[in-house]
Amino acid sequence: MKLKIEKGDPLKLKTPCLVLGVQEGKLKEPLLQQLDKIFAGVLARSFRSKEFSGEKGQTLLLHGRQGLSAERVLLVGLGKERSLTLSCLRQTASHAAKQLAEKQVSSFLLDLAQVKLKKSSLAERAQAVAEGVLLADYRYARYLPESKPGQAVALDKVGLLINSEESLKDAEKGLADARGIAAGVCFARDLVNAPGNLKSPEYLAMESVRMAERAGISCRLLRGEQLKKQGFGAMLGVAQGSVREPYLIVLEYFGGTEDTRPVALVGKGVVFDAGGISLKPAEKMDEMKMDMAGAAAVLGTMLAAAELKLPVNLVAVVPAVENMPSGTAIRPGDILTSLSGKTIEVLNTDAEGRLILADALTYVGRYQPRVVIDLATLTGAVIIALGNHAAAVLGNHDGLIRQLLKAGERSGEKLWQLPLWDEYAAQIKSDFADIKNIGGRAAGTITAAAFLQKFADDYVWAHLDIAGMAWEEKGRPGQAKGGTGFGVRALIEYLRGEAK
Ligand code: BES
Ligand code: MN
Ligand code: ZN
Repeated sequence: MKLKIEKGDPLKLKTPCLVLGVQEGKLKEPLLQQLDKIFAGVLARSFRSKEFSGEKGQTLLLHGRQGLSAERVLLVGLGKERSLTLSCLRQTASHAAKQLAEKQVSSFLLDLAQVKLKKSSLAERAQAVAEGVLLADYRYARYLPESKPGQAVALDKVGLLINSEESLKDAEKGLADARGIAAGVCFARDLVNAPGNLKSPEYLAMESVRMAERAGISCRLLRGEQLKKQGFGAMLGVAQGSVREPYLIVLEYFGGTEDTRPVALVGKGVVFDAGGISLKPAEKMDEMKMDMAGAAAVLGTMLAAAELKLPVNLVAVVPAVENMPSGTAIRPGDILTSLSGKTIEVLNTDAEGRLILADALTYVGRYQPRVVIDLATLTGAVIIALGNHAAAVLGNHDGLIRQLLKAGERSGEKLWQLPLWDEYAAQIKSDFADIKNIGGRAAGTITAAAFLQKFADDYVWAHLDIAGMAWEEKGRPGQAKGGTGFGVRALIEYLRGEAK
């Protein structure tokens, strides 16, 4: 898709469709008045009948008339001025792009970025609109024919309109940022959508190497013997049921000054979670190919950070394994010795994420990170707590959590804090080892985080449980069915704040 900034009079620009953002009740805007005249009062009438009054989510498609260079006009409702946010702008752009693509209109001009939005810059608005379009255009088509009749078309040419007084440079900056971020999100989505037969731990490792080459960052792989020699006992315990070899993927991006300690990102990379000997039920087991969405988000963030040339130092660590039942799999009751030296009693082999993360969290300590953030599809319990609307954030440092909550809000990737009081640790005390890997039904998301905390107490740390956010079941504007790439946008927003 070609996406670029354009200047000019919206009524005089030639385009298959002019997309116009309309705020609720604001028919008096000069441009709308002009359009109403061209369309002989249609706008005023639809405003009066409330058919289209600029309410959020409403649209009205009109076909060309004399006095208008565009072949069509798509009016999209933005809602009330005071409740307008960058997220609304992004969603509206996605909504318009999806609607037009479904009508086989692949080129259009968006007049959205110049809408009035308090405390926002043109660069931010252009970024939001461009992101909305880029993310709406995504689909995972590796196993599909080029195009099927009736299916939404891939977008071809999209212009973002700004007015003549506005700075082209600012808008270009927003557009470039959106491109980098969307590249990261779409990379993550591709990884999550890849089916289990394709997606071995080795595949994840090779895709990381390829991405690192493309982004100009470094990538190191540790596997089999090296992991054994170094003592990754918890990670190897999970991996031993699968014929596929585990990998530890380590990426480094140094965009900051030499003397700043890095921010470390850790992502759960279970390429398929059958549950192991504590086998999962058959229903929806297919979705467990998404159990590496934390890894995907971390990898996507590395790509985006490099594309945006963020002035920060970053390390990413991804333990990649497959959790399968077999004659060589770990059993309930087995005791593993983790990289930290702590012993873990495995009472349920389906609580495998925390096992591989334990070793990854220990390993990342070698970098003396300033901050560690892990992302994981860790518990079904988080879906009971928050549904599919927010990820849980927990950690050992309130300042970090506050920054993440803010980044979540600004990026539109919602986070919600759960407590991590000492009391919860009692649930994961073991009779036979330092710790056990399940804490009972109560507060499942919190006891999982309490488990991780035992391996993350040397540094400032936060954990995001993204199990409810990694996979979209129905499909929405800007979000095709399947992998969401959740986390990339929030992390980039957080890192931008850090870079300041
Ligand atoms: N990968 C799952 C968690 C999950 C569930 C992710 C649903 C996405 C959607 C994780 O490994 C798991 O199986 N967790 C168990 C833990 C339990 C055995 C303590 C769970 O949540 O049931
Ligand atoms: Mn599991
Ligand atoms: Zn899992």
